Amino acid sequence: MIYLDHNATTPLDSRVLEAMMPYLASHFGNPSTLYRSGRLARDAVETARAQVAALVDAQPAQVIFTSGGTEANNLAIKGFCWNKSSRATFFVGATEHDSVLGSVVPLEKLGWEIERIPVDRNGLISVSGLAAVVSDKTGLMSVMMANNETGVCQNVRELAIWAASHGVVFHTDAVQVAGKLPISFRQSGVQMMSLSAHKMHGPKGVGALVHDRSIELEPLLHGGGQEKGNRSGTENVAAIVGFGKAAELALREQCQRSRRLRCLRDRLERGLAEMPTVRIFAEKVERLPNTLQLGVEGLDGEMLLMQLDRKGIEVSSGSACSSEGKEPSHVLLAMGVERELARSAIRVSIGWDNSEDDMDHFLREFKQIISGL
Ligand SMILES: Cc1ncc(COP(=O)(O)O)c(C=O)c1O
Repeated sequence: MIYLDHNATTPLDSRVLEAMMPYLASHFGNPSTLYRSGRLARDAVETARAQVAALVDAQPAQVIFTSGGTEANNLAIKGFCWNKSSRATFFVGATEHDSVLGSVVPLEKLGWEIERIPVDRNGLISVSGLAAVVSDKTGLMSVMMANNETGVCQNVRELAIWAASHGVVFHTDAVQVAGKLPISFRQSGVQMMSLSAHKMHGPKGVGALVHDRSIELEPLLHGGGQEKGNRSGTENVAAIVGFGKAAELALREQCQRSRRLRCLRDRLERGLAEMPTVRIFAEKVERLPNTLQLGVEGLDGEMLLMQLDRKGIEVSSGSACSSEGKEPSHVLLAMGVERELARSAIRVSIGWDNSEDDMDHFLREFKQIISGL
């Protein structure tokens, strides 16, 4: 089997599993307790907090552990908006992940005005695009660091600095970037940043919101007051330890990993360039080193996915099932891609555990599939 869906999730690194094992098997203490086993668990959580903070150049105290990227996005957005006594406008990028787009829905019912920030044909938001839509009523803005489908990287620093000069708080979803490219929360100009462990060879069900502590958040979960009151509930110690280890490894190996990913992705793109009906989306702009999304004129993405699956190759399709049938990706539609071509999309996301042979094998099989169809 060749796994090429690393933006969906990544295999657990064996070194991460090793770090987690004691906390699954014997170190069962509750970090909120004062005796020895509790202190051991607390120390492990705090070590992980420092490791995650180091990955994104933040302070450990700025890290709130959550159950993943989805919760981090919900906490940033709802936590910020629920805490405000007066309603304002909330700007959100048109190509955000569903966990951001979904978080804004209940806010509309509370009287927040939600505006989508349009992207250009390459999936990019520009400062001039912001200037056209943002008003003095804008309270919060959320723009992702890189898109999970196309891999398109936004110029978040430029956007965040512009937002700050207009008194707008800025949140970024960095779930797909962390572990693939260097991040500096300190220098990014953003006030809140979401992360997830399972996109960087850590365990599922754990993530973090990194936040500027001057931003007050209303917690989503109330109770025991863990995470300095920002996220009640007994910590998932083993998962947090795994997240910390994955972050430590990512920081150490990031440069060599991304070089390798880029080489593999470029090899794939060179092969695809020889297939005249294939189009790579946002090909000309900066993208995550491991991601490419392509469409094939006249074909259906889900059918391509199934055919590849039969050959032992796992990728993801760009469409989502809805009650009306298959809905093309909202990301591609926002970029102005025609519905038919958007319906044919598949996403290939490479991992550092893939090889050049995997790329060549994919190209051979893919060529055969599309010529057969
Ligand atoms: C950009 C982005 N944000 C958020 C999430 C959600 O993260 P999690 O699976 O940890 O809830 C994902 C997951 O695919 C993602 O790609």
